[in-house]
Amino acid sequence: MSNENPTSSPATESVSNTEKVSPFLTEPLPQGAPQGQQQSLQQQLTDASTNTQVPKYNLPRGANTGNVGEVTHFGYKSVRAEDKAQKVAEVFHSVASKYDVMNDLMSFGIHRLWKRFAINMSGVRRGQHVLDIAGGTGDLAKVFSREVGPTGHVVLSDINESMLNVGRDRLLDAGCTNVDFVLANAETLEPFADNSFDLLTISFGLRNVTDKDAALQAMYRVLKPGGRLLILEFSKPVFEPFSKLYDLYSFTALPLMGKLVANDSESYKYLAESIRMHPDQRTLKTMMENAGFQNCDYHNLTGGIVAVHRGFKL
Ligand SMILES: C[S@@+](CC[C@H](N)C(=O)[O-])C[C@H]1O[C@@H](n2cnc3c(N)ncnc32)[C@H](O)[C@@H]1O
Repeated sequence: MSNENPTSSPATESVSNTEKVSPFLTEPLPQGAPQGQQQSLQQQLTDASTNTQVPKYNLPRGANTGNVGEVTHFGYKSVRAEDKAQKVAEVFHSVASKYDVMNDLMSFGIHRLWKRFAINMSGVRRGQHVLDIAGGTGDLAKVFSREVGPTGHVVLSDINESMLNVGRDRLLDAGCTNVDFVLANAETLEPFADNSFDLLTISFGLRNVTDKDAALQAMYRVLKPGGRLLILEFSKPVFEPFSKLYDLYSFTALPLMGKLVANDSESYKYLAESIRMHPDQRTLKTMMENAGFQNCDYHNLTGGIVAVHRGFKL
């Protein structure tokens, strides 16, 4: 592993509440506020009304590869590519506190089975190093923490401080002492050194990322040779009549539930739209191959509503 021990960096301070120094941090967290600092939301906000160039949320830097044109999609809306991460941040800041309950309600609890399926495909073993990207409230990281045991190590990372805070509180309450919590943009995975992890997971995160090709390349970079990547994500239902019913449910029931439970219908409208804009099973598999992953395959779950893609760095 090529990383150093950054004992005096802000990144190290960011995980000091667990009294552990992550061996995976190579430099201070880029731009994003370090975890553990009790920064109020008000402090994070800048006055977007007086200067539209000033970002509302202080986010870890993106990749700026040119892979994405000037305009991209945010759900069905066209937005400037550079603005998308901010808009996604608004969604997840808004829903963070109700995220887990909404997940259970919207999927009738089935998201737990999807995640269980992905975990079973991970082949995770004791002593391994695992990175859960866009890990949010930590469903996967919590299980991996137990599976890798005290000799292993899990990093729960996310671009969004609100989501990561919920995940950190939850995992620390559950006694997960082998987990670090790191703000990172999936497009760069900047805090992590090359060839660091045995296993990478990204669950319902990739569709929110502006530059997915950059993210896949970053994932390839931080994965150890022999390691595997699992992508759990909404995908394209394989049976057309089922697809129509699913559309009806997504575009009517989801925003309504969002309104009633989280007082936010727009975020759940975005959820439904972003699912439709995400690459289908075959396209995503090709994107993984283009990023260098080998032996890529995918498994459809619930008729292709969700798919788990798997790839290896050999
Ligand atoms: C639908 S949630 C999924 C959370 C968790 N992985 C799960 O399966 O329950 C999507 C997560 O992706 C995160 N996210 C969005 N864009 C990201 C990016 N560019 N880099 C890292 N995380 C990102 C959001 O902050 C949010 O926590």
